[in-house]
Amino acid sequence: MKRVFLLAVALTLGVTFPRAAAPVITIDASTPAGKVSPLLYGLMTEEINHAYDGGLYAELIQNRAFLDNAASPAHWSAVHGDGSAAAIALDPGQPLNATIATSLRVDVTQASSGRAAGAANDGYWGIPVKPNTRYRASFFAKAASGMAGPITAAIESEDGKTTYASARVSGLTQAWKPFDVALSTSGVAPTAKARFALTVDRPGTFWLSLVSLFPPTYKNQPNGFRPDLLQMLIDMKPKFLRFPGGNYLEGDQIADRFEWKKTLGPLSDRPGHMAPWSYRSSDGLGLYEFLLWAEHMNAEPILAVYAGYSLKGAYVKPGPDLEPYVQDALDEIEYVTGPASSRWGALRAKAGHPAPFTLTYVEVGNEDFFDRSGSYDQRFVQFNAAIKARYPHIQVISTVGFEHPESQRVRSVTPDVVDEHYYKTVEGFLKAARGQYDKYDRKGPKVFVGEWGAYETPFEPWNPRSRGEAPTPNMRAAIGDAAWMTEMERNSDLVIMHGYAPLLVNVSPGARQWRPNLIGYDALRVYGSPSYHAIKLFATHLGDEILTARAADTDVLVSVTRDSRSRRMFVKLVNPGSAAAPVQLDVSGAALRPTGTALVLAGDPQETNSIEAPERVAPKQSRVTGITSGFTYTVPPNGIVVLTLETR
Ligand code: AHR
Repeated sequence: MKRVFLLAVALTLGVTFPRAAAPVITIDASTPAGKVSPLLYGLMTEEINHAYDGGLYAELIQNRAFLDNAASPAHWSAVHGDGSAAAIALDPGQPLNATIATSLRVDVTQASSGRAAGAANDGYWGIPVKPNTRYRASFFAKAASGMAGPITAAIESEDGKTTYASARVSGLTQAWKPFDVALSTSGVAPTAKARFALTVDRPGTFWLSLVSLFPPTYKNQPNGFRPDLLQMLIDMKPKFLRFPGGNYLEGDQIADRFEWKKTLGPLSDRPGHMAPWSYRSSDGLGLYEFLLWAEHMNAEPILAVYAGYSLKGAYVKPGPDLEPYVQDALDEIEYVTGPASSRWGALRAKAGHPAPFTLTYVEVGNEDFFDRSGSYDQRFVQFNAAIKARYPHIQVISTVGFEHPESQRVRSVTPDVVDEHYYKTVEGFLKAARGQYDKYDRKGPKVFVGEWGAYETPFEPWNPRSRGEAPTPNMRAAIGDAAWMTEMERNSDLVIMHGYAPLLVNVSPGARQWRPNLIGYDALRVYGSPSYHAIKLFATHLGDEILTARAADTDVLVSVTRDSRSRRMFVKLVNPGSAAAPVQLDVSGAALRPTGTALVLAGDPQETNSIEAPERVAPKQSRVTGITSGFTYTVPPNGIVVLTLETR
């Protein structure tokens, strides 16, 4: 009976009794095989799937500047009903200024106390109402003669019958005036079935511009971030933030590129722009906010500068035509890193950050292998020379890696780093994880895997047929992702940074353009996919030394790293098979302590997480005992394991 009990305990802890049959993984802990790149795990980000507007950027009003659609005020509706009447329309004849070149005209023809009329916004798939929460509403308003308000600002149910929070402003004049008011909810039940309304209780005409509503933001930063979402990112302990894209950097046409200078300053100076993923960006999350975002995460910015190529094929000829774009990039670097006394550094200081940000890597463009004109080589040369001349310490990244033919790569100079992108099936990653980077020349450029992600199905991220599928990957995809991470970790002397893409998805109907994505959310809730958990596990158990680990006669993939200070070893094991996989861990060069921990992410390969079931697939922690060199550990089927082994 006692033996049966002990056997059960041992199996629960993942320890099996040494049997000669288990395939052996040998780990050499005597001398590190290399240094783990200090920036290995980071985040790739861009405006896609309503990642910022309707996502991380906490603004709750969709189409706040009325510029999203030139024909009608999208996401706005007239508020009227029994005993009240109103009509709304865009009015380019009453612009706020040259940047926000239109406004919303509200004609209230019938209204009285208790029968208000005006305009309402439906938010980003609802306005999230939370209990005991203070919101900040702001807007510009002006009125026709005879109308002075007051305007009631309210967060209310979709049908207007329930008011969750409201406040009044008065003193409208015939000139534009800013209004700012706090709205506080009481102990209401959370809901996103709500709207934001601006109404009056008497007939008259008024105009609205730049209508904004913010919930509490991360660290109360004005114009800041949604705390729950940012916390998910902070928990991943990313070491870098690659921004602003991705295709979002380039835009469909040159005029649609990310023009960083137009993303600075007060919101009334930011026109926003058409983004390549089928909707307009408010640019509320502009260059300054990207930098604060990186800082909140304790991560380094990896700045991608527009390099004269846009998605639909237009490009700027290298030479004099490209000079203004090169200058723009130099100005941008000065904005990020220059002293407060410099021209562009002064603007950053004025925004509230006198201290320069650290910037080591600048990426020139995005996926320039799509530029069939062959201009990238010389465009890169021009940017590279200008950046190096002014900022010799900056490492310049080319967007064409070794996965592309030599004819498409930069040949006239050797880039410091090349960016490789891999969107592959799980099988594709399992294959690549068996030595892709062993073949790379260690004397050549370093590698940044700036975008990667495994697919359960063939690669068809934009295919409308895939819209019925989950927006985030399943457990099987996480296996492909984890396998690929073992390859990048083992080779992190060469692969200095990597980031999954896309990072964020608003899962509301119609909000996404791509699948799968790492983190899903709606107006109220957020969850991590199995791949999110896998990346977080790997990134938070890393250390600084690569140890050589060799697996024989097993499909289990392995990567071993160590923290040189604590001497703690991290053994990552990935079992892509549908049967449990015992492996014998032979460790030389270190004395193991008998107990350690296992973090295990495993389950049905088809299983995934969702808004309704956010933790269906989540890591489980257990104690592992009986550890000694030669001990056998059983990796569960479809399992990802991080073993932390203590050494003496
Ligand atoms: O991650 C989505 C897109 O994939 C990126 O914008 C682009 O760089 C790549 O093609």
